[in-house]
Amino acid sequence: MSVYKVKSCDGYPFVMIIWKNLTMHFFYYFCRSKGKKMGITLLGIESSCDDTSAAVIRDGIVLSNVIAGQKVHEAYGGVVPELASRAHQENIVPVVHEALKRADVRKASLDAVAFTRGPGLLGSLLVGVSFAKGLAAALDIPLIEVNHLQAHVLAHFIRTDVSDTRQPKFPFLCLLVSGGNSQIILVRQWNEMEIIGQTIDDAAGEAFDKCAKVMGLPYPGGPLVDRLANEGNPQAFPLSRPNVPEYDYSFSGLKTSFLYLLRDALKTDPEFIAKNRNDLCACLQEAIVSVLMTKLRKAVADLHINEVALAGGVSANSGLRKAFREHAEQYGWNIYIPPPAYTTDNAAMVAMNGYFKFLNREFAPMDLEPFARVVV
Ligand code: KG4
Repeated sequence: MSVYKVKSCDGYPFVMIIWKNLTMHFFYYFCRSKGKKMGITLLGIESSCDDTSAAVIRDGIVLSNVIAGQKVHEAYGGVVPELASRAHQENIVPVVHEALKRADVRKASLDAVAFTRGPGLLGSLLVGVSFAKGLAAALDIPLIEVNHLQAHVLAHFIRTDVSDTRQPKFPFLCLLVSGGNSQIILVRQWNEMEIIGQTIDDAAGEAFDKCAKVMGLPYPGGPLVDRLANEGNPQAFPLSRPNVPEYDYSFSGLKTSFLYLLRDALKTDPEFIAKNRNDLCACLQEAIVSVLMTKLRKAVADLHINEVALAGGVSANSGLRKAFREHAEQYGWNIYIPPPAYTTDNAAMVAMNGYFKFLNREFAPMDLEPFARVVV
């Protein structure tokens, strides 16, 4: 005899004692035949860096996705870990509350809580992990741990409504580009991913942000560089494009060449940056996008996989999106670019990954700890 805890059709919890799975299936069938919805409803929590986010999804369809950013870091030109964890502590309760409210879902109707376990800033992760554990314990529902990077990839499976069915087919290649990562991932299945190439130094987002900083632009510089680049000439200045073996990336040489370009030009013209800001942004963006696409093109050609997806915060970049569309036309790639809300750090992608794991009955123990880095 097994004891299952299930939800009634209208959301009130009750405990049923049923004999084996057959009875459970019969109950589900009965509810569906009465036209009632027995969806799997998950809460996702993301707190790996400087965005506190909570989302509710039911059967893979997003019902809400609330993100609270942290303005406190702007004054420092980068994320300050201690300030990030304090802001998460302030934000987590109202953000979760808002996500449930927008989804019109009661806590008692949740089937599980999925949370980002890592990689990320340890203090920030601790806030989300502790909150998720507390909520799951209070509601007596399963806890599901999610890898932040895998969640970015699985953002492609988030659906906004039932008619939304366009998703990459396995196997596919995913270019994951964010503030901390630049990777080419071979995705064989939702739970079978292999990093075939990655940066050996700076990430693409970091290169955008650091070069923006030396031009005096505020953090995060990526979106601003993108905007200014639209008005500039991408051929105005030569920049070095480091090339490392196979599918790996390197952006530190590009960053240094950008720095030296400014240093030398400022010696003769102190107004050089102000006069050439748009061109500098256009050249920087063109160089980063070109490096990213060269390696991706090689991976697609070598592996003969033409399902190609883009993920992570830098995928909001208009130059990169354009390059993706051009490659789709020129090389016949089937491309998948998520809506901007699911490219930056968000809990909908965490809940989506949690949903796959829920179906696979992959639950986490209460004593697990967050991890800051992926150990290889
Ligand atoms: O995935 P994400 O939100 O989180 C972290 O990795 O923390 O990515 C943030 C990164 C930042 O480096 C930001 O500058 C970059 O994504 N980014 C952009 C654009 N929008 C965000 N970079 C270039 N162009 C953009 N439009």
